[in-house]
Amino acid sequence: MLTNSVGIPMKRIGVLISGRGTNLQALIDAQKRGEISGEIAVVISNKSKAYGLERARSANIKTEIVTKKTHPIREEHDKRVVELLKQYNVDFVVLAGYMRLITEHLINPFQNRIINIHPSLLPSFPGIDAQKQALEYGVKITGCTTHIVTLDMDAGPIILQEYVPVFDTDTRDTLAERILEKEHEILVETVQLLCEDRIRVTGRITKITGE
Ligand code: GAR
Repeated sequence: MLTNSVGIPMKRIGVLISGRGTNLQALIDAQKRGEISGEIAVVISNKSKAYGLERARSANIKTEIVTKKTHPIREEHDKRVVELLKQYNVDFVVLAGYMRLITEHLINPFQNRIINIHPSLLPSFPGIDAQKQALEYGVKITGCTTHIVTLDMDAGPIILQEYVPVFDTDTRDTLAERILEKEHEILVETVQLLCEDRIRVTGRITKITGE
């Protein structure tokens, strides 16, 4: 069992992805730099061609693929994911660009132990393409949020948020790029808080202990 510098067992992290995996890469890099006292035990993708799988393989992290094709029934899909997470002895789960709604079959066994990164200041602009939604709404400030995952999409207790200005000249892509830099920061920070067991959840309020 891996331990950190003071002999405490490293937390085991499961990361779920669907795409290019820059947030996953931020976690891999942070782990390499020793900024998180946990190890990514497995990366699971619901897309067999997700580039994030390459990133994981390059870092010698185990990968698994569970797709709509292999598991067409939603319940069976999530049960298979849980089976894998348990097989890899995962302590908590990070949804890092996992573009799939998850069911109670995944949430219940990992109650308050699944987090998501979302590219807006929730509760504004939940769902798909939050950056485009922000631009079209005309907000002057947007950002990103990490939160505990519950059955209601993008509505679980908020952990960390960071704001990002919206400029008149922004396109969806320039805005998304600026938000992404902040996503990587707050995701790493949130994962480290989880590794240190410093997040307490009461109802919809989270508190960070030991500050
Ligand atoms: C990120 O912007 C993430 O916040 C977003 O998908 C992107 C994944 O990028 N997630 C959602 O919109 C979830 N509702 P990545 O694959 O490069 O990490």
